[in-house]
Amino acid sequence: MATTTVLISEADIQHRIKTLAAEIEKDYPASEEIHLVAVLKGGFMFMADLVRAMSDRVTMDFMAVSSYAKGTTSSGQVRVLKDLDSNLEGRHIIVVEDIVDTGLTLHYLQDLLKARRPKSMKTACLLSKPARRKVDVQVDYIGFTIEDRFVVGYGLDYAEKYRNLPYIAVLDQ
Ligand code: IMP
Ligand code: MG
Repeated sequence: MATTTVLISEADIQHRIKTLAAEIEKDYPASEEIHLVAVLKGGFMFMADLVRAMSDRVTMDFMAVSSYAKGTTSSGQVRVLKDLDSNLEGRHIIVVEDIVDTGLTLHYLQDLLKARRPKSMKTACLLSKPARRKVDVQVDYIGFTIEDRFVVGYGLDYAEKYRNLPYIAVLDQ
């Protein structure tokens, strides 16, 4: 197994998430519920830490998607592997993603979820690689903006490995 070099430390991630959680809390009227929708698998760790930094007005659900890859590039076609259990109609929802790269996956998901008539829809992603963007997709809360490098850890994988790292890392050659 390759070794990894830390790009964003565990302490920096935890600190940033607390700031994001506070920002989210103040953006919604105190009496209103917020429903978080994590995109599996990559979004699981971000979701777990984000909701623990939020108040008890939070509810959550999970969906799993896979991109139909054409060669190595994302095609923008997304297959829903596990759909939500919850109804989104009339609720404030926040889509929780690990990383926005080309933006194709998120763009597709936003369209899909918007059709379910939530009261509002925002997106939170831990990481964003703006240099790679192919579609202009709205992301309301961004943990960290990074350069065009392949990263692993904190939910993100390389061939299903390294998701468990508590930090973001790059693989050493
Ligand atoms: P997009 O549709 O190109 O924005 O791709 C989004 C998905 O590609 C993410 O949810 C990740 O699963 C995967 N991905 C993109 N960049 C990376 C990376 O640097 N490391 C691991 N997975 C990545
Ligand atoms: Mg992935």
